[in-house]
Amino acid sequence: MNRASLIIAALLAATAGCSRSAKEEPKMTREPFGKTAEGAPVDLFTLSNSRGLRVAITNYGGIIVSLFTPDREGRPGDIVLGFDRLEDYLKGHPYFGAIIGRYGNRIAGGRFVLDGVEYKLARNNGENHLHGGLVGFDKKVWRPRDWSDAEGEHLELRYTSPDGEEGYPGNLQVTVTYTLNEQNQLRIDYFASTDKPTVVNLTNHSYFNLAGEGDILGHVLRINADHFTPVDAGLIPTGELRPVKGTPFDFTEPVAIGARIEQDDEQLRFGRGYDHNFVLRGGGGSLAEAAEVYEPKTGRVLRVFTTEPGMQFYTGNFLDGSLKGKYGRIYARRTGFCLETQHFPDSPNKPQFPSTVLRPGQTYRSTTIFEFSAR
Ligand code: BGC
Repeated sequence: MNRASLIIAALLAATAGCSRSAKEEPKMTREPFGKTAEGAPVDLFTLSNSRGLRVAITNYGGIIVSLFTPDREGRPGDIVLGFDRLEDYLKGHPYFGAIIGRYGNRIAGGRFVLDGVEYKLARNNGENHLHGGLVGFDKKVWRPRDWSDAEGEHLELRYTSPDGEEGYPGNLQVTVTYTLNEQNQLRIDYFASTDKPTVVNLTNHSYFNLAGEGDILGHVLRINADHFTPVDAGLIPTGELRPVKGTPFDFTEPVAIGARIEQDDEQLRFGRGYDHNFVLRGGGGSLAEAAEVYEPKTGRVLRVFTTEPGMQFYTGNFLDGSLKGKYGRIYARRTGFCLETQHFPDSPNKPQFPSTVLRPGQTYRSTTIFEFSAR
């Protein structure tokens, strides 16, 4: 940048600051959200921007409890599934809005070998390990720190997972930071380090419904993926990277989620709908667009960017109407969808997949951005 453009940039930054304070000043709030069964108090943090975005996150599981975005008429609506009260989260739920770790998705047989040593993990999904085990990161109380700066509002959450937790080796220090900015982006930055070789695969498990209610079959989805990882009946990848072309998994052009979900297809049968990892075109490493979802009734748009090589697209097939959430809504089958940015499932047992191994001295880093708009 030359001098003149530096001055212009500085002036623009200053004006942006002014316009923000001239409008309703966004404020981060923190309020008590209840106590865990062990009596640990947890809080609810609300981050907002001047453009109508408001997200409430608790340091219990790092759960996104609510997320309000304007529709095309500017009307706010809550577009994530969840509960009003901590109590309901404590009773058990399918990972609504939570941080998932140490390993998002499945590890076959709840075991893996690293450097010649076999590690046995908790088996909490048939014979497999799912989303970090019996008490994963979604059920931990994280140490919070919140602040605002020129970029937006931040909530940092820290957790130390002890050596051997759920069967994983190494003390793992984890930091997850949520940032809400004025570009209507909710960014999630994940960091981790270890003192023994281990595996890590962190994600967020928000269930979105851009209409706020009803099923999600009319949402129009595009995914930047030419391949997906087909699975066996236990939803473990076979190891193949299968082209999406000519299959119900082709979302390279926008198509309604429900358009092909009932097709007679073995993969859809195994998942009872979509519950599959897509191999993102960007290949991971640098931030790239993974997906865009458009909801025609409200005009809401969600775009997902990530540094991860994969993304699990899950259509809430296992929701069965037994959970009643916010606003008294019944969470029936396919009333929410997840876009879980991640490394591929079962990578610790699939040497051909991008590695999820983290060694002492290395830093695990991952970034995902959820960007909201309406048209
Ligand atoms: C998995 C589903 C699972 C769900 C749990 C998703 O990430 O892919 O198979 O049922 O999480 O709620």
